Amino acid sequence: MNKKNLLILPFLASAVVSCKKDTLVEVVDVPATPIVAVDQKGGKPSDLKATEGPFQLYALPFDYNALEPHFDATTMELHYSKHLLPFVNALNKVVIGTKYEVLELDAILKNLNFSDTEVRNNAGAVYNHNFFFESLAPKAGGQPEGELSEAITRDFGSYDDFIRQFSETAVKLNGSGWVWLLSDKYGRLRIITTPNNESPLMKGLGITGTPLLNLDVWEHAYYLKFQNRRREYANTFFSVVNWDKVEERYGAFSKMAVPKYQSPAPTSETIEVPVEQAKPTEEATKSE
Ligand SMILES: [Fe+2]
Repeated sequence: MNKKNLLILPFLASAVVSCKKDTLVEVVDVPATPIVAVDQKGGKPSDLKATEGPFQLYALPFDYNALEPHFDATTMELHYSKHLLPFVNALNKVVIGTKYEVLELDAILKNLNFSDTEVRNNAGAVYNHNFFFESLAPKAGGQPEGELSEAITRDFGSYDDFIRQFSETAVKLNGSGWVWLLSDKYGRLRIITTPNNESPLMKGLGITGTPLLNLDVWEHAYYLKFQNRRREYANTFFSVVNWDKVEERYGAFSKMAVPKYQSPAPTSETIEVPVEQAKPTEEATKSE
């Protein structure tokens, strides 16, 4: 006897006894909700699809359990299906009939009116999550190579010092937000944070530089496995970072020569949100 039968039988038995006592000739329809829950467990990323609209759900190229033992399957499934997917669906809904409807995601962020808080929050969340999931890979980690490795050593002292500074920044981030590694136009690296679902691409934040890597520091991204141990979560992240992807991003633009009169660039920066604070949407509130 399979699990479905075990779940159905108690309900059917109850229905038959009732009929005998009251001499009713009525068929009782038993809801099958518990079986749906059983069948949904162990789904795949490819099972999911965004609602109709201009934006598709990022196609996660590996199963939820592929980053074990570093990132657990349950968190990955919840993060992708219950956080990213609702943000994509919400974005598809809020851009309808607006100037954003025909724009690519990057273009929405670069041309954003900050008072469009629903577009701002959902577009930022989708961009940031896509970037985060694209930065992960099974059997990844290790250390970067080539010009990115040289830049990390030059700007942070060593790879280990970079990890320490990145994780420390994640620990110190107040509330929910994101930690980013950015490159300026000269190829110099720095670590920044953005609050809520703000993105470095957003017009109005005044952030310059090209995003290379980001870490989701909303509690839904780590609390099931790491609870309050945010530093451990940030350090573990580097066991699943797809450095090939990060190197590709760093190599995708030409670096200008640093003018001789320029003083050294700072290696970290706290970004203040200068314009009207975005109000989290219902989806964002549920996300934590
Ligand atoms: Fe997230």
